[in-house]
Amino acid sequence: MTKRLFSILTVALMGTVCAVAQDKPVIKVETNNVQLVFKVGDNGRLYQSYLGKKLNNDADLKHLPRGIEAYLTHGMEDYFEPALHVEHSDHNSTCELKYVSHEVTTQADGAKLTTITLADDVYPTQVKLHFATYAGQDIIVTNTEITNGEKKPVVLHKFASSLLNLNRSRYFLTEYHGDWAAEVAMSETELNFGKKVLDTKLGSRASMFIPSFFQLSLDAPATETAGNVLVGTLAWTGNYQFTFEVDNNGVLRLISGINPYFSEYTLKAGETFKTPDFIFTLSDSGRGTAARNFHNWARNYRLKDGKGTRMTLLNNWEATYFDFNEEKLAGLMGEAKKLGVDMFLLDDGWFGNKYPRSSDHQGLGDWEETKDKLPNKIGFLCKTAREKGVKFGIWIEPEMVNPKSELYEKHPDWVIHLPNRKEYYFRNQLVLDLSNPKVQDHVFGVVDRILTENPEVAFFKWDCNSPITNIWSNYLKDQQTHLYIDYVRGLYKVLDRIKAKYPNVPMMLCSGGSGRIDYEALEYFTEFWPSDNTDPVERLYIQWGYSSVYPVKAQCAHVTTWNKESDIKFRVDVASMGKLGFDIKFSDMSKDDAEFCRNAVANYNRMKPVILDGDQYRLVSPYEGRHASTMFVSEDKSKAVVFAFDVNPRYREHLLPVKLQGLDPNRQYKVKETNERGNNYWFNGRTYSGEYLMTVGLDLFSTRRGLTSHIIELE
Ligand code: DGJ
Repeated sequence: MTKRLFSILTVALMGTVCAVAQDKPVIKVETNNVQLVFKVGDNGRLYQSYLGKKLNNDADLKHLPRGIEAYLTHGMEDYFEPALHVEHSDHNSTCELKYVSHEVTTQADGAKLTTITLADDVYPTQVKLHFATYAGQDIIVTNTEITNGEKKPVVLHKFASSLLNLNRSRYFLTEYHGDWAAEVAMSETELNFGKKVLDTKLGSRASMFIPSFFQLSLDAPATETAGNVLVGTLAWTGNYQFTFEVDNNGVLRLISGINPYFSEYTLKAGETFKTPDFIFTLSDSGRGTAARNFHNWARNYRLKDGKGTRMTLLNNWEATYFDFNEEKLAGLMGEAKKLGVDMFLLDDGWFGNKYPRSSDHQGLGDWEETKDKLPNKIGFLCKTAREKGVKFGIWIEPEMVNPKSELYEKHPDWVIHLPNRKEYYFRNQLVLDLSNPKVQDHVFGVVDRILTENPEVAFFKWDCNSPITNIWSNYLKDQQTHLYIDYVRGLYKVLDRIKAKYPNVPMMLCSGGSGRIDYEALEYFTEFWPSDNTDPVERLYIQWGYSSVYPVKAQCAHVTTWNKESDIKFRVDVASMGKLGFDIKFSDMSKDDAEFCRNAVANYNRMKPVILDGDQYRLVSPYEGRHASTMFVSEDKSKAVVFAFDVNPRYREHLLPVKLQGLDPNRQYKVKETNERGNNYWFNGRTYSGEYLMTVGLDLFSTRRGLTSHIIELE
């Protein structure tokens, strides 16, 4: 009986797959190399007909099968996870979307925007699917708008940003899970029938265990340089969900959006719900191309000040923790100047008077300088920094509160916590309720007060150490399921105000490491803190993981004392692959090491345009085990910087030369070693053609000693 039912369904499905009316529109969404094609069926519904390498003959598009419904709704005849579930005001939960129209416009940033409008014939629900295409970067940014045309409220139970269908022989999902100080550990799984869900419900520190991006290899596992791979990420600074569902026909349905968990959202009459952006690229030449597509797109279109430079810095967190005063800080500013970095960054511990922030147990929320520590306030620190010749930046964590604080005493109603249960704390703190406009004013006020009183403050490190716990909003009252979403929207309202009033102040996004990172946040933040783990060996993995979608320009990499087995050169070389900073006491360093760091900062400043703005080629993965190498090539291919690390070599290991990538085969490149410490390559100073370097390669690795590193500049 089941078998018979199955064959009836299969026949029915195949029948519908073929039926496409000739006069119905065929909608192409395309970049230089990627194409998404939609068709309208005889039944008026919208189908995704194709997603893959761009087909250059338009006449061929008519041969494509109709495909699978493009934005599947709950309650109709499909049997898999829907993208949309609307409960109408009469409690009917079905929706049948039909094609209404589509249009193509040009966005302010130059992207081509295709908007497809769908509507239900029975209920006045309208859905707009938006696709912005960045042709040169092969990036597609997609989101959805759902409008309630009824006279009464409706409830959204599911509201995906995107649904994509892929029909391939096999699917391999690479995810990047982790935890504090162990972020973005890469692993790959083959997907078979059924669902695999990557999601989070942590609220504020949403991506503490898993960041919101993935790589999906199609047909076979992709390598850095070969294979088909779809890389996607959700631009939402809160709970997200990716559902990968392989159906009975072996088709993979990929649904991306806000995690609907405890987030049923009531839409008032006439109201529109706009989902966050799902951003993806498809590469047929491996993961490296996909990563560069993202980097290039981010620097040009998304990352705050994506084309600007970045400041090197000295941070005091690991050098002092909470134990500092004006004199100590002035000393560190002097060290920053000697080191040659651009800025001194004061970390946690500068505020609170009734409950001074002498540890992470108290004071959070009370953003007044601690009189004992800083009697002359931030103004004095700005002045001292100016006199020493460096810029001054400061740490804040404005969305949070310690229960032991004046803020909590004055405004317990501003805190997300349950009125009738014992509080549960994460790092001794609670999250403020950003759905409440008064709380938004408070958070904006933290930044505004500092910058109004001290216009010289040149940088913020914005931290966020707690997920949302004890979930209850005093403000939202009977709409508790709006909290996760309205929290994020409240955060964006604050960040919009900051960006409007202080457009040029760079900010680092931090979340006890990188517990919160996505491409919507990066519209407001110039950079992020990938991990509190600054052990250079671990950082090789962490920086590798994040570079799957984020450019190194946005990744802060600091030299600290983590991993005392590694020498200063190894630590500095690893950190020079990102946005270089230091968080270390120079007074504890030998003269030679301090001198090495000074030279390394000068070298970094010279290489910075190539590293931060060049194309990144990941040559040898640390996941291969014993060595790692990454290179950066300037846009005009006239310069390159190559990093090579021997992490844990073996005696008489069979090592091959490493083939470089991205160079001009017809140019001659001179190899020059940088950050030298008496261990130069034998080929230092030689000149090679780009062709030789990319075909034969260089002996970048050695079997002699672990934890050794080299940087070479090619010109
Ligand atoms: C967590 C961050 O990741 C650290 O860099 C530091 O800023 C501490 N918070 C301060 O509390």
